[in-house]
Amino acid sequence: MLKIGHRGAPILAPENTLASFRQAITCGVDMIELDIQLTKDNQLVVFHDDDLSRIVGVNTRVEELTLAKLKEFDIGSSFDKDFKEERIPTLQEVIQLVKGQVKLNIELKPRVANREVLLRKLVVLLEEEQFKDKVIISSFNHWLLKDLKEIDSTIKTAILIASLPINPVKMIEDATADGIHPHHLVVTKELVAKVQKKGYFLNVWTVNNQVEVDKLQSYGVDGIITDNPGKY
Ligand code: G3P
Ligand code: MG
Repeated sequence: MLKIGHRGAPILAPENTLASFRQAITCGVDMIELDIQLTKDNQLVVFHDDDLSRIVGVNTRVEELTLAKLKEFDIGSSFDKDFKEERIPTLQEVIQLVKGQVKLNIELKPRVANREVLLRKLVVLLEEEQFKDKVIISSFNHWLLKDLKEIDSTIKTAILIASLPINPVKMIEDATADGIHPHHLVVTKELVAKVQKKGYFLNVWTVNNQVEVDKLQSYGVDGIITDNPGKY
């Protein structure tokens, strides 16, 4: 079963920072999940929220700021003052950090103002970094995944779901995806069997207790995405 660090290792270091990704690697993850979005000047950065209020205390949207401006913010101190040097990483910085060590699950946030630019930038970057075969691209926005496959059918994708669909296999196929990433509360043994029987993979988020880990392992899931990769 793959161990996937959710936003790195956010129990040990501030989420979606290079420090968090280094910690996740130290914890022995196979893959790191992170969230990306576009800046005002169309750079791919790693950041979960639409705006900076929770992490930085500034109520401005990421897409309204340039990369240079975003780099001014300390995104570590709200976790612990020891991390005050942490800055919003670009996706390229993260790929260069993890290359040769672990794979990435890159989540595309569902509200995307400039989807064509985002997808093209992503594909070009993965090609330039020769990292295309080391990623799963996931999203709650299944249209984005379908559009991505039309640009490059070789890149692996997974639909994110938070509730149980009537026909999960059809949902994967409608998005021309390779797998499914369900919320842990909607996973059943039958779902796992149905999806894997058709040759699709299934990784579960966000799994943070041992009972759940053991149950999912007994179901034969392909991987778990956890906040605590040091423990599970
Ligand atoms: O990719 C799984 C999980 O990260 C989805 O939700 O809000 O944590 O990005 P969120
Ligand atoms: Mg995410």
